[in-house]
Amino acid sequence: MRNLKNSIGKRLYSILVSPKKAQQEWCGEYWQTIDDVRDISCSYCRKFDKEKQQCRIPFGSPIRKCVISSVEAHLNNAKNKSVLEIGFGRFSLGKTLVKRSGGIWTGVEPHQSKDKPSKIGKGGYGHAADIPFPDKTFDMVFGVQTFEHWGQKVEGAAMRPSEYRDCIEEIWRVLKPGGTVYLDAPIHFHGHEMFIMGDLQKIRGLFTSDRWKDLNLERWRYHYEPLQRYVPYEKLFAEWHEEIDSYTEEEIERIKKEPIWMLALTVTKIDN
Ligand SMILES: C[S@@+](CC[C@H](N)C(=O)[O-])C[C@H]1O[C@@H](n2cnc3c(N)ncnc32)[C@H](O)[C@@H]1O
Repeated sequence: MRNLKNSIGKRLYSILVSPKKAQQEWCGEYWQTIDDVRDISCSYCRKFDKEKQQCRIPFGSPIRKCVISSVEAHLNNAKNKSVLEIGFGRFSLGKTLVKRSGGIWTGVEPHQSKDKPSKIGKGGYGHAADIPFPDKTFDMVFGVQTFEHWGQKVEGAAMRPSEYRDCIEEIWRVLKPGGTVYLDAPIHFHGHEMFIMGDLQKIRGLFTSDRWKDLNLERWRYHYEPLQRYVPYEKLFAEWHEEIDSYTEEEIERIKKEPIWMLALTVTKIDN
């Protein structure tokens, strides 16, 4: 019943979403810069209802509410842009926003049939390390809650885990010079170990300065008050132990006590 309510809420929200409204809601600086990261605390977030002391997104887990907010903040103006979504799954608010704001949406997803190749303006088979389009095709590439899975061992078993270096190189290849990237992922939740551990240094290191500029990291819901703390729970830990090789038990124990938050990353391909 809860899932059905969630699903209806999600669809309804998607029908009503407006890029214009999103542009107004998210214009200007919606973050506070702390230690070189753009921090969006719940109490400061534009989706926070001060009167009711709750998030105005009516469905989804605490992190999905941040996903919706961040997607609205970043993908609200794709006018005349050719935009690629990686790992679109079954539902894409980003696709709706891109199309409604005048952009052309194209998607690649490894769970699509290999007989359904991706074409410009449509979704089809493809994955982050093998994007079936020529060099310099897109003005923008984005991925919602997929980045953390590209290199993971456990869920990626259906397809071989990819090297992050290859995926980022592939995104760089299909972007036009000056093209932009938006990626988001949960931190201290699941996926590749750098996302479970929240290793921002490693994540930043994927975007080298000979190829990329203007890298920004946003941290959503790390400062969650007055909303509830959302912490890693027992069910996640078996996967953590399969994924994590490069960190000590002590570091893992420390992470278990941290709140789960959402990372949003934007970066630009250098012009030459
Ligand atoms: C948690 S789902 C998110 C789906 C959708 N973007 C959303 O926000 O609901 C993760 C998605 O990433 C896709 N995925 C996993 N590994 C991938 C890869 N290497 N390249 C592209 N997509 C991948 C999965 O097939 C899945 O659709």
